[in-house]
Amino acid sequence: MRKKIVGSSWKMHVNSITQGTELASSIAQRVGHRDDVDLFFLPPFVLIERIRDIFSDTNILVGAQNCAPIEKGAMTGEVPISLLEEIGCTYIELGHAERKEFFNETDPMVAQKVALCEKYDLTPIVCIGEKQSDIDSGQSEMTLKSQVQWALELVSEPFRKRVILAYEPVWAIGQAESADKDYIDKTHKLLRQIVRDSYSNELADSIRIIYGGSVSPKTASELSTVEDVDGLFIGRFGLSGEGFEAIVNNFMQSNK
Ligand code: PGA
Repeated sequence: MRKKIVGSSWKMHVNSITQGTELASSIAQRVGHRDDVDLFFLPPFVLIERIRDIFSDTNILVGAQNCAPIEKGAMTGEVPISLLEEIGCTYIELGHAERKEFFNETDPMVAQKVALCEKYDLTPIVCIGEKQSDIDSGQSEMTLKSQVQWALELVSEPFRKRVILAYEPVWAIGQAESADKDYIDKTHKLLRQIVRDSYSNELADSIRIIYGGSVSPKTASELSTVEDVDGLFIGRFGLSGEGFEAIVNNFMQSNK
């Protein structure tokens, strides 16, 4: 049985200490003691320790939105994974479409970072997803296959089971609505099949594949019965305690 998981990256939407601490307090109050679902938040680096403290007596875990591709050295402006481990991160998000677009992050770089997660015993949340141009040129399946394989290639078989694949169609990020239910269902099945064909039945049956891209309370209701959707990765619509709680409640309504 794959346990459901719902979380949110604050990206750079949260840009003051007050905003972050108030948001975390509201979330802690509303959903902090659920144990039917894993919950996580990925604040900007500077806020991680404060948010970790606010969640300290809850079941909510924290993580980072990125880490450096090497352990230490001359890499100005980057954050080493060892520090993230030391301050209590559980999760590291890797390869988000915005990192690829604005910072030229590549799939081989993501693979290196996943390997560092294994070394430091942290759980990677690896973003994968096709662009509109992949759809237009009939390349979606190839793109997804390559991204899945890069995500899992450099780590051991036991660790692969811990990796969380976040399917985020690039064209559905930052929109009014998420991709539609049938499209998400079909693609999650395809992703699980890619894992099955590339690795093993055991891995395909145990790896968690979550959906992200304009997730709202409405998306959460629609996806609550979709078998291959193991969780949600929330952006803008989770930036209030109320919004986040509504998404968790709607997604978990048929999982009680
Ligand atoms: P969004 O962000 O929900 O604001 O579209 C989703 C994401 O990029 O994970």
